[in-house]
Amino acid sequence: MRGIMYYPDELIEEIRAKNDIVDVISGYVRLQKKGSNHFGLCPFHNEKSPSFCVSGAKQMYYCFGCGAGGNVITFLMEYENYSFPEAVKVLADRAGVALPEAEYTQEQKKAESRRARLLEVNKEAAKYFYYQLRAKQGNIGYAYLKGRELSDETMKRFGLGYANKYSDDLIRYLRAKGYPPDLIRDAGLCNVDEKHGMYDKFWNRVIFPIQDINHRVIGFGGRVMGEGKPKYLNSPETDIFDKSRNLYGLNFARTSRKEHFILCEGYMDVIALHQAGFTQAVASLGTAFTSGQASLLKRYSKEVVLSYDSDGAGTNAALRAIGILRESGMTGKVLNLEPYKDPDEFIKNLGQEAFRKRLDSAENSFFFELRQAEKEYDIKDPEGKTRFHKEIARKLCGFSEEVERENYIEAVAEKYHIGYESLRRLVAGYAANTGLIRPVERPKSGLQKKNTPQDNRKRNQKLLLAWLADQPRLYHKISKYISARDFTEDLYVKVAERLFADIGKGEFNAAAVISMFTDEQEQREVASLFHAKLERLENEQEREKAFHDIVYNVKKSSYERDCADMENDMEALQRVIAGKKQLEELNKTHISLQ
Ligand code: UTP
Ligand code: MN
Repeated sequence: MRGIMYYPDELIEEIRAKNDIVDVISGYVRLQKKGSNHFGLCPFHNEKSPSFCVSGAKQMYYCFGCGAGGNVITFLMEYENYSFPEAVKVLADRAGVALPEAEYTQEQKKAESRRARLLEVNKEAAKYFYYQLRAKQGNIGYAYLKGRELSDETMKRFGLGYANKYSDDLIRYLRAKGYPPDLIRDAGLCNVDEKHGMYDKFWNRVIFPIQDINHRVIGFGGRVMGEGKPKYLNSPETDIFDKSRNLYGLNFARTSRKEHFILCEGYMDVIALHQAGFTQAVASLGTAFTSGQASLLKRYSKEVVLSYDSDGAGTNAALRAIGILRESGMTGKVLNLEPYKDPDEFIKNLGQEAFRKRLDSAENSFFFELRQAEKEYDIKDPEGKTRFHKEIARKLCGFSEEVERENYIEAVAEKYHIGYESLRRLVAGYAANTGLIRPVERPKSGLQKKNTPQDNRKRNQKLLLAWLADQPRLYHKISKYISARDFTEDLYVKVAERLFADIGKGEFNAAAVISMFTDEQEQREVASLFHAKLERLENEQEREKAFHDIVYNVKKSSYERDCADMENDMEALQRVIAGKKQLEELNKTHISLQ
């Protein structure tokens, strides 16, 4: 998340501390006390048994199912889709804390004003295109859109526009309004090359402004009127336009109050659907659907109906999207548009009612996957059939929740006329052979990866931080060997710095550490850090050995990194010498957990 207002840390901490997380979350989720924690059904993914844990002691929440986690501020951000300052404001009000005017650092002010300027120039360009479409010179564009059966009202709602035949009129217009060339360039509104200098990116095209959820124009798509290549030109990614974290139409769809979203491929599909009353339609931005977009949708609804093109490419894209949705804890269904190519054509030919019926009979995404997989096998041949059934069993192992898996086994057995018991045995056999139930693989993602040395390194660092967060006093026993710079991941370094400083001052508090991070992904990672499952070793001796191993391994990989750096960094040599000594010493040292 960018463009955040900053309040002083102490104030945020005060507000956080005055809002008990169990109280706040109880307003949203039914919680039950179990030991020192509270558990409930996770509001961030679909589940039937509670894996959502709220810790009053730590003032944090964490879901063991989907990995959502954070403190009371992040909870509101995720649940209510508030920005950081919005969440802080709500909590301040709740606790009766007065907020001063937000403070910005110099750097933030600069970045913020650059982003504001980019939004401004985009808005101005959108206005220009909009005006051109409705002027005489825009007739050709207007006629094109009319020909595609868009009403004036629809064109207005989506802010559609037209870029003239000339290749410099937008630039001239924006310059005349006082926008400097580098801003126009950074907004992706022009191209620059040696031969032509600076010229408009979009010309002689109808224009689809792309808006973020707050209706601000962050980019454009431009379509040729008729045949021609490329069919669509799109703005490049800029400081305000992240294609993997925005969706076309979401600014309207998120308030549609429908239980599901319709996810389609094209701008025109979204517009045609909205015009026909399906205001829950969104599309990705000329790129494949991403997990960032999935988590964006998930804030509003967990159900997505895929309405991709009915050709081969569309089917493959749908299969990939299903994998992403499932990994994000969402459910997908797939719409059959046959015999039409896309939702736009479907609606045009069969109308709104027919589309609604298709929507009602959308196929469960798992059955859709099976139906596609079936095409790869010769089912008439017993061998082919067997292999297909094995593939079904393999896919069924992807459901890690037992109830769900059982339900699917039952449904699939019936649908494909496989004996229920024999399918169960096949699944059980598959699960046993492959080391139990695994997460679903995305199509074409290849085989499950082995742990790389890097994974192991990360794991050790994570465990050490988790252990210290759990028992801060242990830090004093290892501070001789371990400092923040022994961590290799940027995020871990930051956490370690803060953690060690706080422990040193005797005021460590995990929930406060999370407030340091403003990016949602980072917050999740930090929350998961503090909830990493420490192995439950009964025996004190084993625990001590485990802890010792972790400390040793963290030190060792830091030492190895210094060795690698030595060639081009003289200071690393000093660190290597010191590191080697410490490792030897550590090897002989007993660290008591008492
Ligand atoms: P489609 O080719 O399905 O286009 O591309 P469409 O939306 O149905 O367009 P019409 O109906 O022919 O006007 C789907 C999406 O892929 C991206 C665009 O975002 C488009 O909406 N795309 C397609 C491009 O970015 N560039 C292209 O050249 C083509
Ligand atoms: Mn189309």
